[in-house]
Amino acid sequence: KLTNAVCGSLNESWYLIHTCRLQAVNRYRTTFNFNGTILHPAYNIEIDAQLLKKENGYKPFLYKIRFDLCRFFKKPFNPLVIIVYKAVRDFINFNHTCPYVGPQIVNGFYISYELLQVPWPTGEFLLKMDWFFDQKPQFFTNMYFAVKE
Ligand SMILES: *[C@@H]1O[C@H](CO)[C@@H](O)[C@H](O)[C@H]1NC(C)=O
Ligand SMILES: *[C@@H]1O[C@H](CO)[C@@H](O)[C@H](O)[C@H]1NC(C)=O
Ligand SMILES: *[C@@H]1O[C@H](CO)[C@@H](O)[C@H](O)[C@H]1NC(C)=O
Repeated sequence: KLTNAVCGSLNESWYLIHTCRLQAVNRYRTTFNFNGTILHPAYNIEIDAQLLKKENGYKPFLYKIRFDLCRFFKKPFNPLVIIVYKAVRDFINFNHTCPYVGPQIVNGFYISYELLQVPWPTGEFLLKMDWFFDQKPQFFTNMYFAVKE
């Protein structure tokens, strides 16, 4: 279950964040809604993604990867990213090849079965994602979630 979302722009002349928030839909489901604007076309987009687990502060857990989003949409390659992509694709408006410009929307995302295909330990997690355009950090999206039995 999602527990918190924190996002921020690091370069407001390229990326604006209007909305980054969770919404409790019912007792079992909390959704993530995001609205950002890319002010100039981005041809070169990379994401640093890191999964952390809470144990006296958040500690690295499993993966830290950097992947090229433009290359991914030309030809999906990374099996982990493919799993995550399948879980998010119905909720996002940016499932296309580069360049990216204009609104970047995530509407009503929630953690679904697809992400739970793989066995998870219980606990609290943080998925940190840092987004780079032309190798320069532009914004970050940090998602906190808890896994119970
Ligand atoms: C910030 O965005 C501007 C406008 O798109 C771009 O020219 C500049 O290189 C960016 N700066 C950094 C540090 O990313
Ligand atoms: C995103 O935010 C912009 C600026 O506030 C707004 O004009 C636009 O309607 C929003 N889009 C969605 C889908 O909420
Ligand atoms: C993007 O999403 C639309 C609508 O959900 C879908 O029809 C299209 O096949 C998707 N494209 C990719 C590359 O997944």
